[in-house]
Amino acid sequence: MQGRILVVDDEEVNRLLLREILEDEYTVEMASDGEEALYELLKHHKETAAVLLDLQMPKMDGFTVLSRIKKNGWMNHIPVLIISGEEAVDIENRCFRLGVSDFIHKPFESSIVKNRVRNTVELFACKNQLEQKVERQSEALKEQSRIIRMQAEKLKEAESFRNLMMQYRCAIMEVETKLKVLNEEFSRVYKRNPFESIKSRLKTPESLYEKLERKGYPVSLESIEELINDVAGVRVICSFPDDIYRLAKLLIRQDDIILLNEKDYIKNPKDNGYRSLHLIIKIPVFLSGGKTYRKVEVQFRTIAMDFWASLEHKLKYKRYVENAEEIVGQLKACADSIEILDYQMQEIRNKIDKSKE
Ligand code: GTP
Ligand code: MG
Repeated sequence: MQGRILVVDDEEVNRLLLREILEDEYTVEMASDGEEALYELLKHHKETAAVLLDLQMPKMDGFTVLSRIKKNGWMNHIPVLIISGEEAVDIENRCFRLGVSDFIHKPFESSIVKNRVRNTVELFACKNQLEQKVERQSEALKEQSRIIRMQAEKLKEAESFRNLMMQYRCAIMEVETKLKVLNEEFSRVYKRNPFESIKSRLKTPESLYEKLERKGYPVSLESIEELINDVAGVRVICSFPDDIYRLAKLLIRQDDIILLNEKDYIKNPKDNGYRSLHLIIKIPVFLSGGKTYRKVEVQFRTIAMDFWASLEHKLKYKRYVENAEEIVGQLKACADSIEILDYQMQEIRNKIDKSKE
């Protein structure tokens, strides 16, 4: 069966005849007047492969049915074939003007009806398939251009993100330079370096997004600027605890630096034994468009504290560690020993320094 055919004719004999001709190939539904036909189409227009329509009918004639079919937009996918005894050419032309696909004259010749219906149904099936294909393609095109628009948007965002990251990199450079300048002077005055090394890092986009999500902040450049203090990080590794304070003080004292926050985990170590001095500072970056302040997290620790922190950090990122509690205890004990050691070393240095004088 190739589909459903609706035969609309007020004469029962015509309906039965057409059904007999077409029922081998189609499911034939019948309506005896225009209203019935429209009711049937309202329910089944999607499954209807063609309508065979008589012109002269009581209540509602074929022309009215045609105009309703058109109005409902069904004419695009359902072919209408007029079945009529009408011989006048202008009536036939009027029907074609209204969009009918074919005109079959009564009395019916079985094979002519079969062939014309078959041709029309096949043509429309092809046309409908093509239209659907075009529609799918244009949907795909629309989706594609939506994706392109989105990517362009992202790219624009990425451009400003790259710009922001560049500013943070410059801020790191500024802090590093200040520290290096202090190092130069310090080594001249005290005949030793106030710090062993500097390690700087810029937070990766992945880590930034992860932090924003974790803290429940909106993922935006504004959030990064306003709410994340450690986009730029500088870690200063000193030999002795007093160098940490001396260096931090010298840095904060500089009149272009704004101290936003200070956490002294050396005087107030964390429960796990973590010790470091953390400063969140704002530092100006001079760009072609003017001056802009960027935040930098500066961590000061001794070599021993740094050694400890990197080992402890490894423990944090392990999902499962055997005897974790015992290790936490051992780490705490190590941290306390390190503190003692750091101050003992400082004492020794002081003695050496004194004896030089
Ligand atoms: P975030 O952890 O960065 O969100 O900031 P916070 O408000 O906890 O600040 P805090 O000053 O306590 O820590 C900032 C950074 O110091 C961390 O990102 C680590 O790099 C380091 N840090 C703090 N606590 C520990 C610790 O217990 N162990 C280790 N290894 N590093 C720590
Ligand atoms: Mg951090």
